[in-house]
Parts: sequence; structure tokens; C-alpha cells
Amino acid sequence: MKNSVQSYHWATAYDPLEMKGHRLDWANQPTVYKHIEGLPSVMLPDVMPSVGANGSTIAGQVPDDRPTAEPSLGDLARMLRFGYGITAKRSYPTGVYEYRSVPSAGALYPCELYAACHGLDGLSDGLYHYEMSSGRLVRLRDGVHTLPPGSPDFWMAIHPVTTFYVTAMFYRSVWKYRDRAYRYHLLDSGHLVESLVLVIRALGFQAEVSYDFDDEQTNALLSVDSSREACLAIVAVKGRSPRVSMDRPAQWDPIPEAVRACRVSAKEDIPETIRFIHAASSQRHRPQNEGRLQPFWDIFDTVERRIPVRALEDPLRLSWEQAVLSRRSSRNFVPKPISEGALSDILRSLASFPEDRCWPHRFVSCGVLSAACESIENGHYGFDPEELSLIPIRKGDMMEPMADIALQQRWLSLAGLEITFVASLQELHAMWGARGYRYAMLSAGRLAHRVYIAATAIGLGCCGIGAFFDGHAASFLQLPPQCALLYFVGVGPTRGRE
Ligand SMILES: Cc1cc2nc3c(=O)[nH]c(=O)nc-3n(C[C@H](O)[C@H](O)[C@H](O)COP(=O)(O)O)c2cc1C
Repeated sequence: MKNSVQSYHWATAYDPLEMKGHRLDWANQPTVYKHIEGLPSVMLPDVMPSVGANGSTIAGQVPDDRPTAEPSLGDLARMLRFGYGITAKRSYPTGVYEYRSVPSAGALYPCELYAACHGLDGLSDGLYHYEMSSGRLVRLRDGVHTLPPGSPDFWMAIHPVTTFYVTAMFYRSVWKYRDRAYRYHLLDSGHLVESLVLVIRALGFQAEVSYDFDDEQTNALLSVDSSREACLAIVAVKGRSPRVSMDRPAQWDPIPEAVRACRVSAKEDIPETIRFIHAASSQRHRPQNEGRLQPFWDIFDTVERRIPVRALEDPLRLSWEQAVLSRRSSRNFVPKPISEGALSDILRSLASFPEDRCWPHRFVSCGVLSAACESIENGHYGFDPEELSLIPIRKGDMMEPMADIALQQRWLSLAGLEITFVASLQELHAMWGARGYRYAMLSAGRLAHRVYIAATAIGLGCCGIGAFFDGHAASFLQLPPQCALLYFVGVGPTRGRE
């Protein structure tokens, strides 16, 4: 019998024999901005692009902590602007589209961002909704809300000065992707989590990520209608010293009904499959403190065959902040080689996560498909982030078949490199219940975000791929039984960036 993770994942698999197109309901196209009327708001200060970080942050190294400073209001503005800001506008016959610092499946941007702030000079303690279109913080609640409801005890030692709550408004992605949309809610949230983590670290602060909190209470705190919008992840900025008051309020102020009722479209039908996996994964099975999935490449591993990833830095063309501001999804790949240094930069960006509770490699393992990497033969490899080495799995051309598997996105056949994110759905469920699906998909999004930023900084293009024939992908990649490809990214030189 399938567990709930397998049931959802395979019920939403794409199969070439069962692809039924569906018409987009343009009359109910969701808005991509949440606007809350009638509450006080604060304009964030204008911030210069400089966050003072050099390129090393891209590989995930933490710059020296600022020994005494607590974040300022300017720092908060930078976290929001770089973490989840508008970075480009394009005009199309259907209107002007605004693109953000993070990618999003179908550019539907299901995620909203809330910030609970405590002890920030120039901003009174409270819970705010980040209204990115106006650059304002809309005040939802007074008081200290930096400790997520139901968060484990270790949070007390973090002394968060700011806690970001990442939610997804389900219908935005459901509008286009229907039942499969929950995958994108999680992957998109993972991108946003990592985007926030990178800017927090670039500013010299420490970030703490959590996927474990009391769903019901957290959604109540955020005043969202949890059947349409729900918190999926939390990122906190660690404070330097204990805060004056860390008590959770016994009672929350009432929030105007208009806030809870905020809609993205007149009709927001959420499919039963999504309600099912969301409800199942809302149960807290066991905190994700223990365990690690067996990497899918384990069965191919022998010490003698491993290829070490040398620490050669490709000259970074862009600083971290330029990479964030110029990151886009690229599809115009050209068949040119990827240097050993460039491959090393990308792989090391995947390896340099702190091995904490949310270490992404606990929940997913990474594969590498190479077509034009100077230092390795074309083929499929596993990637060991701890030993910094590649495990050869199979030689041959991978890009043509993968382009077909990705719903015939033919431009992918010219990518020089693909990074895959894989997990055993059975093991995920056995270890963490349905919540494990969230851990894995969020982790895949976080890892992919690193690849996007690292690739951009070294002058390569990158594109996330969430659309693929799931069964074909698993068999082509010869994944062990129960393992599934969750997501992958294509990387390579592009026209226009040469
Ligand atoms: C989870 C996810 C899945 C995606 N899947 C695809 C895909 O299958 N094909 C594609 O061309 N782009 C895909 N994209 C890229 C989005 O289309 C792109 O991020 C969006 O249009 C916004 O553009 P930008 O990334 O340039 O800001 C995906 C992005 C994400 C985050």
C-alpha cells in the first residue's frame, strides 16, 4: 500500500500517455500580490544594493559575524529586498510582468512573506506582512511574535530578532498546475528560504531555518485562512543576546476579518489531492532532528571510482548582490564547455550548508548529469557533499533524453550540466511521516537556489525544471526502487552571456 507521500507524488506524476491539456481560466487569473487594506503600514527605507558581501558568500561561506551589531531597519529592508524583491519588469501584449529575486514555477509566485520583528531600532515590535509592490510593511499585530508557535525548545536559545514566515497562497499555482501545484508551493518556498538565508548570512548574521512548527497556531498567528494560504517554512535571524521578553502572548489581538478573507481570485478552488497532502503533512510526526535518507547513489559507490571535486575557483564575474539582482531563468543554452572551476564552484555551493537540523542533504541527494564539463566524462554521477566527490553511475549522453523527459523542452538538450534532486518517498515517510515530503521538497528548492546564484555569478545560465514525466525520469536515471526525481536544474553557457 502506498503511503500518503507516495500517493500524492505519483497521483500528480506526468505520464506521456495521460497528458490532458487544460484551459487556463483567464477570468479567474490569480493576482500575484497580496494587498491588505485598512491596516497601518511602515515604509521600508530605501537601501543601496550593497550588502557588503563578496563573492565567497555564493559558495555559502559565512562572512565574519559582526561581533556586536544587531540588525538595523536598513538590514531588514535589505533582507526583504534581496531575499524577495522585484528585480525586473518586462512588457508583454498581456501586460507588464514583474520578476523577483527568486524563480517561481510559471512565474505565479505563490509565496508571501511575513516578518516578526523584535527590538529593531526604528520599528516597533510586531508582526508585519511584506508588501513588496509598495515596499511597505503592513502591521498585523503588536507584540513579540519571533518564536513560532509550537517551535521546539532550541528556539529559546536563538533569541530571534526577526523571524520570517514563508507562506504559499495555494490557488496561485493551482490555477495553472492543478493537483501538481503542491510540489511547486514547496519548491518555490525552498527557493525563497535559501534566498533569505543567503542575504542574512551576507549581511553577517546567522540564520536558523525551521520546517517544524504548529501549523494551526502559526496560520492563526499570521491571520491566514489556512484552507487557502498556509505557512510552509520559517527563517529566523539569530540575535546576539537574550531578548528582554520572549514570552509568547497569551492572547492575540483580534485581526479584522478582511485580513483573513484576502483573496487572490474570486474563485479559489483547491483540489482534494492538495488538501489531502497538506493536511497529512500538517501532522507533526516527529521533529526532523534525527536520521538521514540513504543517498540514491550509495548502491553505485566504490571508493576507488570516486572523482574528487577540486577547490578551484572560477573567476567570479559578478558579486553576490549582482548575481541576486541579475539572476534569471535561462533557456538559450549554447554547446560550449564548462570549466573544471565552474563545475567546482557549483558543486561546492551545494556542499557548504551547515549540518544542522535542516541540512538539505539529509532529505534529498544530488545527482550530476554532465554533457560538456571539461573535467569529467559525459554521463550520470552521484554527488557526495561531505567528501566533495562524484560517484560515476553511467556514461553517455544524458541531455537529449532528459529534454524529452522534461515534456520535450528541447532547449534543455543544449545544457552542459544538470543537477538532480532525488529522494526515496518510502524512506521519507518512514522517518518523518508526510511532513517528510515538505522537508525534501523544500530542501530541493534550497539546493536549486544555490545553483541558480552560483551559476549566475560565474556567468552561466540556469533554469529550474519541475515539469517532467516522473516515471520515465526514474527509470532513465536508474533510480533505486521507491526513489523519485523531485526537481532538477539545467546549467550552461548561454547566448548573450559569452
Ligand atoms: C519549481 C520551479 C519549476 C520550474 N519549472 C520550469 C520548467 O519546467 N520549465 C521552464 O522553462 N522553466 C521552469 N521554471 C522557471 C520559471 O519559469 C521562472 O522562474 C519564472 O518564469 C520566473 O522567471 P525568472 O526565474 O527569470 O525570474 C521553474 C521554476 C521553479 C522555481
